[in-house]
Amino acid sequence: MSERSDILYFDNNATTQIDPQVVEEMLPFLREQYGNPSSAYRLAKTVRAAIETARERVAALLGCEPSEIIFTSCGTESTNAAIHSALRMDRDRQHIVTTRVEHSATLKTCEGLAKRGHAITWLDVNSDGQIDLGELERAITDETALVSIMWANNETGVIFPIDEIARIVREKGAAFHTDAVQTIGKVPVKLADMPVSFLSLSGHKLHAPKGVGVLYANRRLKYAPFITGGSQENGRRAGTENVTHIVALGKACEIAAKNIEHEATAVRAMRDAFENGVLAAIPGALVNGDRVNRLPNTTSIAFPGVESEAMLMLLDQRGICCSAGSACTTGQHEPSHVLRAMGCDDTRARGTLRFSFGRFNTMEQVSQALEVLPEVIEKIRRVNA
Ligand SMILES: Cc1ncc(COP(=O)(O)O)c(C=O)c1O
Repeated sequence: MSERSDILYFDNNATTQIDPQVVEEMLPFLREQYGNPSSAYRLAKTVRAAIETARERVAALLGCEPSEIIFTSCGTESTNAAIHSALRMDRDRQHIVTTRVEHSATLKTCEGLAKRGHAITWLDVNSDGQIDLGELERAITDETALVSIMWANNETGVIFPIDEIARIVREKGAAFHTDAVQTIGKVPVKLADMPVSFLSLSGHKLHAPKGVGVLYANRRLKYAPFITGGSQENGRRAGTENVTHIVALGKACEIAAKNIEHEATAVRAMRDAFENGVLAAIPGALVNGDRVNRLPNTTSIAFPGVESEAMLMLLDQRGICCSAGSACTTGQHEPSHVLRAMGCDDTRARGTLRFSFGRFNTMEQVSQALEVLPEVIEKIRRVNA
């Protein structure tokens, strides 16, 4: 339960509240268990063992081997590391295929590579936010090093058919990375059954702290480290481990694995109640993207003609946290690249809010928000009229 009773927090895709059980798990490592995991004495061995337990817990949630888990500082680092490694494997394979709706971790990295001469193919999406699998297949050539396609979109929650995508990429002989930052902990996954080469996840999206992530690197593939130096993480990611955060992420994954089915059902019920309530109460409101293949916690709703900045300000005054497009791009007043790629016009894109629910929300909070939101939209529409 959230301790901030004055806040209705519906921005769980931006970040999540740390689970109190996770905080408990961290405390010994902030106090007495301060040994450097690389040292030889017993104090260090305990810390080292805690990192390995965390690795096993993450692997259990992902359905893979613990040896395939590399701890990083965030989802963005994991994605950079996957792209870097794929480009190091074969000089003749320097082409990347990705989509126009990726998070900036992939988008900006690929734009940077394009400026340095790499060929990048940007796959378009349709109005549901889905790619054309035939177009994907045609885009992969003998020169393709990597296909990088997110599992679920952070703005709309739209889920790509990652199983099918991974199989297409494998048949074409390229490596496949998926940014699963928004997927892990929300949807069950089993990587052992999927030809995925790399996967990125981020602690702060699943009730662990900010500043820790994971790169899953398939053990059948070679890996070239992104950060070099010491031999931590089996030589795959140098730098003294962020022990408290790694331990926290392990605990968060253990909790997620235990509750994933039940939690997804409860969170979906809140999201659906909210979405249906909004559509019924607010004339002209529209849901963006595929409503079937979608994360259970996310809704992206357009109120065409109503500026999201005005809505965010009034909602904030009433204690409601949500976002306009992705959190990483708020402050910029450009319409979201995701909505634009889906063919939304500017009035629709600029009038869009994202609400993302989580473990610590309640139906009572949903009802409270459903009283506030129609009033806010009505007020802005009156001023604009
Ligand atoms: C889909 C997606 N990828 C990557 C990231 C970046 O993760 P991090 O904040 O851990 O770098 C985010 C964060 O919003 C995201 O939503």
